[in-house]
Amino acid sequence: MSRLTESPAWKALAAHHASIQGCHLRELFATDPQRFERFSLEAAGLFIDYSKNRITADTLALLIQLARDAELPRWTERLLGGDMVNHTEQRAALHTALRAEQSVYFGGRDVLPDVKRVLEHMRRFSDAVRSGNLRGITGKPFTDVVNIGIGGSDLGPAMVTEALRPYGSPELKVHFVSNVDGSHLTDTLSALNPETTLFIVASKTFTTQETLANARSAREWLLNGLRTGSAVSRHFVAVSTNAEEVQRFGIAPNNMFEFWDWVGGRYSLWSAIGLPICIAVGFENFAELLAGARAMDEHFAQAPLEKNGPVILGLLAVWYANFFGTRSHAVLPYDQHLARFPAYLQQLEMESLGKSVDRQGRPVDYQTGVVIWGEPGTNGQHAFFQLLHQGTPLVTADFLVGARAHHPLAAHQRMLVANCLAQTEALMRGRTEDEARAELEARGLKGEALERLLPYQVFPGNRPSTTIVYESLTPRALGALIALYEHKVFVESVILNINAFDQWGVELGKQLAKSLLPELEAPPGGTLSHDASTNGLINYIRARSS
Ligand code: F6P
Repeated sequence: MSRLTESPAWKALAAHHASIQGCHLRELFATDPQRFERFSLEAAGLFIDYSKNRITADTLALLIQLARDAELPRWTERLLGGDMVNHTEQRAALHTALRAEQSVYFGGRDVLPDVKRVLEHMRRFSDAVRSGNLRGITGKPFTDVVNIGIGGSDLGPAMVTEALRPYGSPELKVHFVSNVDGSHLTDTLSALNPETTLFIVASKTFTTQETLANARSAREWLLNGLRTGSAVSRHFVAVSTNAEEVQRFGIAPNNMFEFWDWVGGRYSLWSAIGLPICIAVGFENFAELLAGARAMDEHFAQAPLEKNGPVILGLLAVWYANFFGTRSHAVLPYDQHLARFPAYLQQLEMESLGKSVDRQGRPVDYQTGVVIWGEPGTNGQHAFFQLLHQGTPLVTADFLVGARAHHPLAAHQRMLVANCLAQTEALMRGRTEDEARAELEARGLKGEALERLLPYQVFPGNRPSTTIVYESLTPRALGALIALYEHKVFVESVILNINAFDQWGVELGKQLAKSLLPELEAPPGGTLSHDASTNGLINYIRARSS
């Protein structure tokens, strides 16, 4: 048994769970008129209602004790202070320094001047592209920017650019190419003109197979179109920590935007990886995004644990996965502009918490990360919500919604909000047999016909959700929202005693892909070194690929 599952706080939570698991959220609301006030909070401009969760004041007290036993406040200081919290890679995780206004020391050196220098470089460059002062080799202003990157070098900037679409300009389109599937690049480039296209090659390591393959093909497309080698220096910039590889690719150092080892890929949108965001919405809006995240950092560092947004969300995640046995968590933005937010969170949460070995290298005997998934509402209601309401697994959910929209269709926004709140209420309340019977009777059914339909009309309810409300999806609100989840993940990792900042699990597949590639390229007939299934598939595809 681990120290965690052996701890008095854990055992107390297990006993407490046994005593409240049969308790329905309807009862909890009925017996506590203060429940909404008690279990809601404001954090950096976001309102978080977590009262529709299967908790009582006792649950929260026990979970807070768990956080204290894990020394969460000390770990938070370590994180924000630039300690080597990523012990398997001997790195800090100082993404908060990227949005800081005060000195942050790493290895005895203040990193803020470097951060500000790169931000200034991003400001000058994005202003020049947006104003048309910076032009392609034939003298035309850029109309399209293509970011080539994958994982953290794609998902964050792609999600934010989409989320802040109302702040963008129709004259300058920003595209994202990530997949090594050639369709992604081909489809994107098919409508573009090399004379007016700028490429950003974004890769922390600058060794990622997919990104380099896409960057090389994009370079070829550009050179074929413009027929001059010097076009690359006018149409390509890089964002990376690896100056040597950037230069080897053919991008000059003055066209490189630097960031640092202490920025994890999935935490990097605040760094120069955010360059496409600056170009899409302007540097002032990017600065607002940083300001929103900074406000959440301050909240996380200063708010008492009981009223701390990331702490509460992290504790709820540990509570459900470990005591209710949930295995997935839905993120449901009632905001079309947040369509990519679930995908972004998948990397943030699943790469960070998909671990089964603790910080001391021992296998864990508890649940760590769960599957994160989701789609915007109301679309999801007409697709997978059936399972949320009446399916057998218990799925927890976060609902995200704005009080105001950017578009002028106020009636649509009211419908959207009505649907969002109705879903959280339906999940919580359900519909009892008596209620279902009354409803069927009101529809004129009776006797056997009614009894036959009755079981299908019952909703168990008691399905937990958290609702996060922002006034409107401004850069500041979005920054706070993203940082909320970043810190939530950190809270979980501290309690679960795992490293949230490494991702060794993605390496094996990368290695095998490298060894498999020459075998796919070789003529059929040679010996293959894999298992029967993989060998069989290679042979099958090889025979049909040319
Ligand atoms: O494969 C996982 C990963 O290392 C992510 O953690 C990272 O965000 C992504 O690949 C891209 O890496 P890079 O920015 O170095 O190209």
